[in-house]
Amino acid sequence: MLFGDVSEELARRVMEALRHVTDIEPPTALVRVSSQSGVDYQCDLAMSLGKRLGEPPREIAAAIASHLDVADLAEPPVVAGPGFLNFTLSSSWLEDRTSALGDDPRLGAGVTPRPRRIAIDYSSPNVAKEMHAGHLRSTVIGDAITRLLRFAGHDVIPHNHLGDWGTPFGMLIEHLLDERPSGPYTIGDLNGFYRAARSKFDADEDFATRSRERVVLLQSGDEETLSSWRHLVDESTRHFAQVYELLGIGLSSEDVYGESFYNPFLATVVDELAASGLTEISDGAVCVFPDGFRNREGEPLPLIVRKRDGGYGYAVTDLATLRYWTGQRGVTDLLYVVGAPQAQHFAMVFAVCRAAGWLREEHRAEHIGFGTVLGEDGRAMKTRAGESVRLSDLLTEAIAHAAGVIDGRDDLSPEIREEVARAIGIGAIKYADLSGDRERDYVFSWERMLSKNGNTSVYLQYANARIRSVLAKADQDLADARVLLGHPTERALALALVRFPEAVGAATAGHLPHKLCTYLYETAAVFSRFYEQCPVLDAKGPGVRDSRLLLAELTSKTLTLGLSLLGISTPARL
Ligand code: ARG
Repeated sequence: MLFGDVSEELARRVMEALRHVTDIEPPTALVRVSSQSGVDYQCDLAMSLGKRLGEPPREIAAAIASHLDVADLAEPPVVAGPGFLNFTLSSSWLEDRTSALGDDPRLGAGVTPRPRRIAIDYSSPNVAKEMHAGHLRSTVIGDAITRLLRFAGHDVIPHNHLGDWGTPFGMLIEHLLDERPSGPYTIGDLNGFYRAARSKFDADEDFATRSRERVVLLQSGDEETLSSWRHLVDESTRHFAQVYELLGIGLSSEDVYGESFYNPFLATVVDELAASGLTEISDGAVCVFPDGFRNREGEPLPLIVRKRDGGYGYAVTDLATLRYWTGQRGVTDLLYVVGAPQAQHFAMVFAVCRAAGWLREEHRAEHIGFGTVLGEDGRAMKTRAGESVRLSDLLTEAIAHAAGVIDGRDDLSPEIREEVARAIGIGAIKYADLSGDRERDYVFSWERMLSKNGNTSVYLQYANARIRSVLAKADQDLADARVLLGHPTERALALALVRFPEAVGAATAGHLPHKLCTYLYETAAVFSRFYEQCPVLDAKGPGVRDSRLLLAELTSKTLTLGLSLLGISTPARL
């Protein structure tokens, strides 16, 4: 029995057939899921070969088809249009495959034959500042991508690049030492310190000077300064840990590799760049001008590695980060889940690292950008007071809204209600961040994200809970059940279920969790059409009830596994 990705298997068969048709080294045969009615998969290889072989694509397609052996899983392929090869899976294969699917906890999804060692930077908030909606997006998307990559069999190391170093700490620590407020501080207090320190810095020349001197003390390891700094970092980290806990995100203190971690490497980074002849002095600062980066006036753009005053900044820390992960931790891939506005920063950092030899041929580095979360006015989300929305408020509000969704469910105990409200509320926030193309901005709306109809996590959670209740009612052992495909909606559901590996594969390969969301939503929609048209508990005919219950169970397993790969839980009762 074939398990795994059907489009990959068909592509393999096409490549085998192609060897009988031509000797030329073909491009990889791409077989795609088709949404055309009556066609399950489609291949356009013949069209791309037409020019190279100087033959009509339809003839090439027909020649491939004549050598193609797919009888075990599909009807004979059909040549269509300008030279497509169309495939329709055979019902008997679909029946066999879905009948066996439930025995596989991975529901047919394979493991990569080429595992990579991947460092992924996500969340990465700043100390003494509250996390905002942008950090939430990074956290949610990064967590989903981590889960998907691990599921595919890669070795994934998350690292939380905390903003815990640099000039702002001079003024923060100076302010703290001036005021000596009694602790322990909440993150709200720290936020307040930050604002007070900032305005003092702008208004008071003496304070500004002391703050600059304090940065030097911090960098030279002065004990009193370091102890205030550590205090600030600890208090903030405690707050971040609470947010991760509430979100169900696996980041822990062991994953923290803040900016300060790379401080000891910065001087060496600059020396090595200089030794490779990559640096130039510009305006007193040490800069690298990577090839191909220009500003609007067409002048070369610098990446500043050491400022005029001798200080190091954000960019050089990122150079040190890459150098550390490839050089000392042996990672092959570096992923950065950071907002789209930092695209150019990362492109320049990667270019400099390539030039310096810290990123080599075998390494991949990718900025996984994402758009801004907008308020209903279409601008970056703000509170009424004009400040960015506090993440902890947002999450508490989500759970409160979700409690409204299950209001009046007196059949659920208070503990279950609380658990369910949390699953719905946190799920809704995550799903809203994940279900759209991540590059795009999106408008934050409680109403939309908590709607029971439409592409939302609540819709999927409800669909799953309904299936679970049907299964509970039937209380049937399905170990020996077989899928029988009689009704068209049964076939459509079976087809959706065998496409799970393709959906997970596409979401993983492109770091595009929304592809998995779309698939889950479509699968739930196919299920509801099936459920409307095919009686399940009252099914007539030998084996039909068992078959339908099995299809329902597989749908529930698919929704549960799929949502878990997105970090979203599926309560049994809603
Ligand atoms: N702390 C930064 C911010 O809040 C994000 C850091 C992203 N990661 C990195 N390696 N630069 O904007």
